Amino acid sequence: MRKYTLLAAFACLLAIAPMSRADDALYKSLGGKKAITAVVDDFVGRVAADDRINSFFKATAGDPARLAKFKKNLVDQICEAAGGPCKYKGKDMKTAHAGMGISSGDFDALVQDLVAALDKFMVKDGDKQALLGVLGPMKKDIVEK
Ligand code: HEM
Repeated sequence: MRKYTLLAAFACLLAIAPMSRADDALYKSLGGKKAITAVVDDFVGRVAADDRINSFFKATAGDPARLAKFKKNLVDQICEAAGGPCKYKGKDMKTAHAGMGISSGDFDALVQDLVAALDKFMVKDGDKQALLGVLGPMKKDIVEK
């Protein structure tokens, strides 16, 4: 009897293991937290240099502690969304961007900067689409005009 219980437990493990692997497939394919941090660093640099939208980030860029926290939040958010072991502890997207008056064009400009950063690190097309597929639906909570 005990033998069968063990066998059943083992069979369950075999069934679950591939599932949990699939859940963090995007995180692993992106290269884990280190690679995500490199992309976020580059991305934030691009946003800061992007005259279309950098006015939104004046206060953030001018305060190193605030900038570091913003970057950490972005890394955690992307890491968690990709199925990684991080936990995003920042505000929800609606609260975080409330009252900023972000337009659809502003949103698209920021996504272009993210795509440029992903391209720089030669992130695979499929991974890029998967990540944008997670971030895209946030547009409705971020854009106000
Ligand atoms: C998919 C698109 C976006 C994502 C995933 C995103 C993500 C975030 C996150 C995680 C935070 C930090 C929230 C917190 O402090 O708790 C944040 C803050 C902020 N976001 Fe966004 N955002 C997006 C689009 C935009 C756009 C389009 C703009 C403006 C053009 C923008 C401007 C800002 C600003 C100014 C802050 C405050 C930064 C600070 O704390 O100093 N975001 N965003």
